[in-house]
Amino acid sequence: MDFFCRVTLALMVITFLSATLSQAHPGFNFGWGGHGGISGGYFGLFPEFYQSSCPQVDDIVVSVLEKAIAKEPRMAASLLRLHFHDCFVQGCDASVLLDDSTGIASEKRSVPNRNSIRGFEVIDEIKAKLEEACPHTVSCADILALAARGSTVLSGGPNWVLPLGRRDSRSASLSGANNNIPPPNSTLPNLVTFFKRQGLDEVDLVALSGGHTIGVARCTTFKQRLYNQNGNNQPDASLDKTYYYGLKSVCPRSGGDNNISPLDFASPARFDNTYFKLILWGKGLLTSDEVLWTGNDRRTMQLVKSYAEDEGLFFEQFAKSMVKMGNIRPLTGYNGEVRKNCRRIN
Ligand code: HEM
Repeated sequence: MDFFCRVTLALMVITFLSATLSQAHPGFNFGWGGHGGISGGYFGLFPEFYQSSCPQVDDIVVSVLEKAIAKEPRMAASLLRLHFHDCFVQGCDASVLLDDSTGIASEKRSVPNRNSIRGFEVIDEIKAKLEEACPHTVSCADILALAARGSTVLSGGPNWVLPLGRRDSRSASLSGANNNIPPPNSTLPNLVTFFKRQGLDEVDLVALSGGHTIGVARCTTFKQRLYNQNGNNQPDASLDKTYYYGLKSVCPRSGGDNNISPLDFASPARFDNTYFKLILWGKGLLTSDEVLWTGNDRRTMQLVKSYAEDEGLFFEQFAKSMVKMGNIRPLTGYNGEVRKNCRRIN
């Protein structure tokens, strides 16, 4: 056998082994082809993960999303937020979807999530359709990532190539949810610290906060700004006056805690860059929104200004930061499981 034949034969053997092992275990790859992301390496996430095991995965996700969002445009926002609240608590492992059961203290009960996160029925519907089409194949953590991307696109925002192959946790962390999801009255240094803890920087913080271009918040999350921002019974001085009076009518000093107001009142269901324009005008809804501009950090100020001026730039960075957030400590390879029902472990 000459040299050329030997090399060809060796390549055929490797290709065969790779294909066989990938079939036997979908997480298997030889680490070729620039897959990776933060997790990198052998069992890293990669966009073609379901290429042979469930090629129609994105079509199924998007078809359910289309119906759900047509029925209620806010659903896009709620699903985008679910992925964020999943990733910030023990990584993107669908821990946020687990209901209470023996050994599981559901994250749904945590302060940031209680009476707040939603969209579980839509995730259930996607999961049911996927279990029909490709049984026991697509993880709930990947469904959350796909639903977040699909929701962004269907609301008019950017698309991106999404690394897949996350597996689902067999645990949840109620304390993790209480401690790792930033509260709405955070100062800018606090926000930076929360994001740093997840391996995300200030660019990610500002771009991802742009997720607040869609959806709403409850009065209880911004009431402090209207009546007692600094413990002196005064409103937040950075609030635009007209906006402030409008908010007071939705959110009285006492009661009305569950009344809602859009995070971007100019285009609450459209994924665009008005969120950043509003911040420049003192019309950001949460303290955590406005401090990106008023928090005396030249970097975040410059980013808010740039995204307000250039929607394309915002879209490009949002997409990059979403991939980065989606890569937070995923379970891959033989870790975790693919749940049959997203609400409970197998
Ligand atoms: C920077 C730190 C953040 C803070 C302090 C924060 C806080 C909040 C709060 C308090 C609400 C309203 C919840 C309620 O009233 O029940 C909310 C809603 C929302 N958040 Fe954030 N958030 C942050 C980052 C993010 C990120 C990174 C994303 C996604 C990329 C995101 C997406 C959303 C969306 C889409 C909604 C609206 C949800 C709906 O209408 O159901 N947020 N956020």
